[in-house]
Amino acid sequence: MNTVSKGPEFVVSRAEGAWLWDENGDRYLDGTASLWYCNVGHGRAEIADAVHKQITTLDAYTVYGDFANGPALELSARLASHAPVADPRVILTCGGGESIETASKLARRYWAALGSPAKTHLISRTGGYHGLHGFGTSMGMDRFRAGFGPLIEQTSVVPHDSVEALEQEIQRVGPENVAAFFAEPVIGAGGVYAPEPDYFARVAELCRGYGVLFIVDSVICAFGRMGDWFGVERFGVSPDMIVFAKGVTSGYLPLGGVITSGEIADPFWNHPGNPFIHGTTYAGHPTCCAAALANLDILEREDLFTASLEVEAHLDVSLRTLSDHPLVREVRSGVGVMAAVELTEKALMEHGITTDEVFQEARARGVVLRAIPTSLLMSPPLIVSWQQIDHMTSTLRSALDAVAARHL
Ligand SMILES: Cc1ncc(COP(=O)(O)O)c(C=O)c1O
Repeated sequence: MNTVSKGPEFVVSRAEGAWLWDENGDRYLDGTASLWYCNVGHGRAEIADAVHKQITTLDAYTVYGDFANGPALELSARLASHAPVADPRVILTCGGGESIETASKLARRYWAALGSPAKTHLISRTGGYHGLHGFGTSMGMDRFRAGFGPLIEQTSVVPHDSVEALEQEIQRVGPENVAAFFAEPVIGAGGVYAPEPDYFARVAELCRGYGVLFIVDSVICAFGRMGDWFGVERFGVSPDMIVFAKGVTSGYLPLGGVITSGEIADPFWNHPGNPFIHGTTYAGHPTCCAAALANLDILEREDLFTASLEVEAHLDVSLRTLSDHPLVREVRSGVGVMAAVELTEKALMEHGITTDEVFQEARARGVVLRAIPTSLLMSPPLIVSWQQIDHMTSTLRSALDAVAARHL
């Protein structure tokens, strides 16, 4: 609230491809695909046409009970056909945080249905971001947890890069009390941290061994951002659940969901009188699903999966040229179309430089980045060109130079 109470808002009035225009007609490169979601780029008439057609055919209708609609069924079948989940079932929601709520409740409810109601504890990773609903806030970073009083207490956080720490935590809490482990393939909002190549294979095995559900939060990493459908294929694992949102529609309309294994669905699916009581008004919204289907058509037809691997490689090469800048501690990139440029402790602590200053300088020069306390984050649309990536890098360098000139 304080950000906008201090001065005028930055009003975005138009967007096309990887470009944005403000209300004065000034152009900016969208270095973040809005909030990590606009995978196919802005201004796709094909998605607008699909949405128009759907609204004039069936605008919206509940999927309560046995009600269904064509786009929701088609989307669910299409997602299931690509998901690296055994015997997959799809629950549709309106976004990421809502999907985390769904997955958390389903994990607890599954164990209760199997006669283990004590299995309620949820483990997440340092730097993990799972949205700001009840469960997501409870599992999230300290700076997002403060000031709300008691949250869900059966949660804990382990170092993001240690399988051993996860095992110790499962043993400390007691496997008979742990419902699930949540992890993003690459930690996004928490600062872009990629796992060691064998981390997820080891985690999956560990969770299986202890009877802990392994839930992947692919809200950022799915739909091409990692060069594949669900952001975990390159790690060769098959989680119990995958949570998705953002890139499923490239943000044109709000949609998210959970893909769960048939084994987890089984107690509710095949046994009458044992419902999973959960759902929301707009779940399975046909118009949002129509937008998703058109978006997936574009991803597949333009093979943005392959293109994104090339963008990933170029982004890595381009941004690493910033490693020599005196304000830069580390560049994290090279796994997925996402990157972080972290400032040195000296810049932040001794010189009092903030990442927001760098963000402002970059935006004033026509590039939109994302600032978190220690780093600038980048996650451009997958259709970004190499020239646009280099433009982003050189603009960030100028922004860093301007901030350094002011402080050093
Ligand atoms: C990994 C991850 N999970 C969950 C969420 C929450 O999604 P939403 O903002 O749609 O509630 C986000 C949002 O950025 C996210 O990055």
